[in-house]
Amino acid sequence: MKKDLMILGIESTCDETSAALLKGGREIVSNVIYSQIEEHKKYHGVVPELASRAHAAKIATVINEALGDHPLDYVAFASGPGLPGGLMVGRVAAETLANFKKTPIIGVNHLEGHIFACEFEGTEAKARLSFPLVALVVSGGHTELWYVKGYGNYKILGRTRDDAAGEAFDKVAKLLGLPYPGGPQVSKQALSGRREAIAFPRPLLPGTWEFSFSGIKTAVSYYLRDHKDFSIPDVCASFEEAMVETLVTKTLLAAKKYKVKHVAVGGGVAANALLRERMTEKAKEMGVETHFVDRKLSSDNAAMIALAAYKKLEHAEKTGKPVKKNINIDPNMKVRNWE
Ligand code: KG4
Ligand code: ZN
Repeated sequence: MKKDLMILGIESTCDETSAALLKGGREIVSNVIYSQIEEHKKYHGVVPELASRAHAAKIATVINEALGDHPLDYVAFASGPGLPGGLMVGRVAAETLANFKKTPIIGVNHLEGHIFACEFEGTEAKARLSFPLVALVVSGGHTELWYVKGYGNYKILGRTRDDAAGEAFDKVAKLLGLPYPGGPQVSKQALSGRREAIAFPRPLLPGTWEFSFSGIKTAVSYYLRDHKDFSIPDVCASFEEAMVETLVTKTLLAAKKYKVKHVAVGGGVAANALLRERMTEKAKEMGVETHFVDRKLSSDNAAMIALAAYKKLEHAEKTGKPVKKNINIDPNMKVRNWE
């Protein structure tokens, strides 16, 4: 592979339109992110039709800004999982650019991007992950636990049966009248609340690696209905505590069961300070090292997509196997082994 391979990544799976240029699988030359939060705010969640339109309206500008006058060797885009309209916009933009610039194109899994993003330190992918590891992907649309033997070698242990972790934060924020996206708002309120004030459930679902967060959200809504004088900080602190305890307990149980010494956490919810603190502390007690995505790159961005593409190309080169280009979009894409 060319030493300074220039990959332009495109991300449009949910409510961020982003393009980024990655040099040599290491250096983020640009990472332009247009967030659609303003468009979706008044609905307290992402409206798919509005998202597709906003992607279509912004993608050309975002790509242009990210690419500038730089040379280009490869175009990568997130081909799933995500909202069909957004994925389509990403694919059309990627194909148009690749045809125009006469470069190859590759589709990558958005969730792989969230995990590989743990390698970025500032604007460089330096902190290479160590394997085997257990990965926790926690975002607004997904909550999944994987056993990762190496690059491109995954086993999905469990996923959420209902709400994603970020979705639960967003829904609780909505119940409390806090603005979208709810995660950062709930966290902020929680700082002045008492974590032990209300005993919300911890859905550990023993015997499975699955998650289920709709019960915690329902428990919050019943609490609000039955306690007219509730304290927003106490509700937020107790809810956050229940969420974090559940995520940390299950992830570290998996780390123990699979005898791994490393845990990687990526996705929007990985920005949560309590989750970072607790996971790190509890893992350390077991001799396990945690790798969290840098807060600045925890939400959707195209630098992580370009890095995931680089990993795939590098892996194909190392193993001598043909790279799976995977450019068909798949809204329900599951992470799959490259091998
Ligand atoms: O990864 P992301 O940007 O988009 C998806 O792929 O879904 O994740 C967005 C989610 C939202 O649900 C947001 O509320 C949540 O991440 N989030 C947080 C925090 N910051 C963002 N949840 C909890 N605590 C936070 N500090
Ligand atoms: Zn995401």
